[in-house]
Amino acid sequence: MSDTSSEPKRGDFAKHKGEVILREHEYDGIQEYDQKLPNWWLFTFYGAIAWFAIYWFLYYQTHSFRSDREIIVAEMSAIHEKKAKELEATLASLNDQTLINQWSTDAGIVANGEVIYTTNCVACHGADLSAVMVAGEVKIPLPGRSLIDGVWEYGNKPMDIFKIINAGSPVDAKGLNGAKMQAWNVMLTPKQVAEVTAYIIAKNPKEFAAQP
Ligand code: HEC
Repeated sequence: MSDTSSEPKRGDFAKHKGEVILREHEYDGIQEYDQKLPNWWLFTFYGAIAWFAIYWFLYYQTHSFRSDREIIVAEMSAIHEKKAKELEATLASLNDQTLINQWSTDAGIVANGEVIYTTNCVACHGADLSAVMVAGEVKIPLPGRSLIDGVWEYGNKPMDIFKIINAGSPVDAKGLNGAKMQAWNVMLTPKQVAEVTAYIIAKNPKEFAAQP
């Protein structure tokens, strides 16, 4: 800068529109204008600082309002509570005998179970529950276990089957070739788990003979 008459100082920013004042420093030939920020910008900035303080005080100190996190935690625990109650109610009316004699012999329930099975389980347990997909000559083993071979890895009682579907493979289970089954209670209601259990039982008539 050759203009030495009044060497600009820091804070000596341009006062009028179009006035050019440069900051003293220079890096690699690059200089910087010294302009005052527009008031709308400054007050938005101060306003944001003030809002932060108000927000922090009301949400995190006095807890006058609930934060998003608190709202979600409350909603989630309400859902868990509702599901636990539903499961309790279902378990109260459900046992090995009712599953075999009532649920698996009720055509409506079994049909509901079949829909649930077709939607969620076919991919791993196969259309005929054998865990094998037949494509022409080729037999492709699927990831799940056969549900019609009479072998029940986690117990052969109807309620054992209900439990493994509801809660998934036990935590310490080895799984099948390392594959475990997920807990279906996150996607299905206890009633739906009971319905799909009834469908599986109905598909094993020799093993689970209903008593009249
Ligand atoms: C992503 C693949 C997959 C899907 C989808 C799946 N399963 Fe499974 N299932 C498995 C695997 C793997 C096992 C074996 C788990 C183990 O041994 O720990 C298994 C085991 C089971 C068992 C226990 C079998 C036994 O021998 O004790 C039942 C019952 C069962 N599944 C039912 C279902 C039902 C009902 C559904 C649908 C709601 C379903 N599965 C969906 C993979 C799947």
